[in-house]
Amino acid sequence: MKAPILTLFNNKGGVGKTSLIYHLAWMFSELGKTVLIADLDPQANLTAAFLDEDEIEGIWLRAEPGSTVFKCVEPLTGVGDISPPLLRRITEKLYLLPGDVALSSFEDILSVEWPKALGDSNLYRPMRILSAFWQIMDAGASDVEADVVLVDIGPNLGAINRSALLAADFVAIPLGADLFSLQGLSNLGPSLRSWRSSWRKRLENWEESTENRSVSELQLPSGKMKPIGYLCQQHGVRLDRPVKAYDKWVQRIPQWVRNIESPFSD
Ligand SMILES: Nc1ncnc2c1ncn2[C@@H]1O[C@H](COP(=O)(O)OP(=O)(O)OP(=O)(O)O)[C@@H](O)[C@H]1O
Ligand SMILES: [Mg+2]
Repeated sequence: MKAPILTLFNNKGGVGKTSLIYHLAWMFSELGKTVLIADLDPQANLTAAFLDEDEIEGIWLRAEPGSTVFKCVEPLTGVGDISPPLLRRITEKLYLLPGDVALSSFEDILSVEWPKALGDSNLYRPMRILSAFWQIMDAGASDVEADVVLVDIGPNLGAINRSALLAADFVAIPLGADLFSLQGLSNLGPSLRSWRSSWRKRLENWEESTENRSVSELQLPSGKMKPIGYLCQQHGVRLDRPVKAYDKWVQRIPQWVRNIESPFSD
């Protein structure tokens, strides 16, 4: 069975995604699970939490194929194919696919390939590129026999995150107790819904194509990205009561989740 891929996402930044992925990774590994952590955020904050600056600089300077997430996908920016991931062993149970600030440059290619995947022909390369993050994580998870893959992503609705989310089986949504996080949540519902159905169209297009029959070894993610709930960032506590401004937003979260066109409603 393939390891489930879990990510945390909100359109609003700074809601604790990276911190949560970091702690979940250690918690799962302490429970005896083998964890693959993939840093798909070009800010590479998760990588900085696991490796010191000298190690990160060494990886970036050596620029070995597969040594970071960008180094895995870089050949796709020319005429090459994905480089297999070189994972960093943090402990016997914890493996990291390091992030890379250079990953931002992959955003344009993903945007260009998105419409091409709906064309009548030459679909293999767009489908390979759009699913590249999934291909890499799948290969890495098989290499280390991971029980779970945790993916850290940035806080926007761009093409990198679209491909990262299409690779995810499950998405949990961290929120701050504030208006901005809740507004982020309302942007998220329609985006996840639209990406899910657009990917389904591309999968159907691929399945019906003649190329699919000739390149049958291409495996693709189903693009489920099933929302599994939300987590609220801890707020300051005074005299055992939440600070009033935060409490107001905490109380309103369930209502927002129910009322808006949210990712939880399907
Ligand atoms: N549960 C929490 N309660 C309170 N503060 C937190 C919590 N989790 C993280 N923080 C703090 O919030 C800040 C942002 O956290 P973090 O970098 O994990 O967020 P992020 O969602 O990954 O941000 P970005 O969108 O930039 O990637 C950090 O200063 C972190 O220490
Ligand atoms: Mg982060």
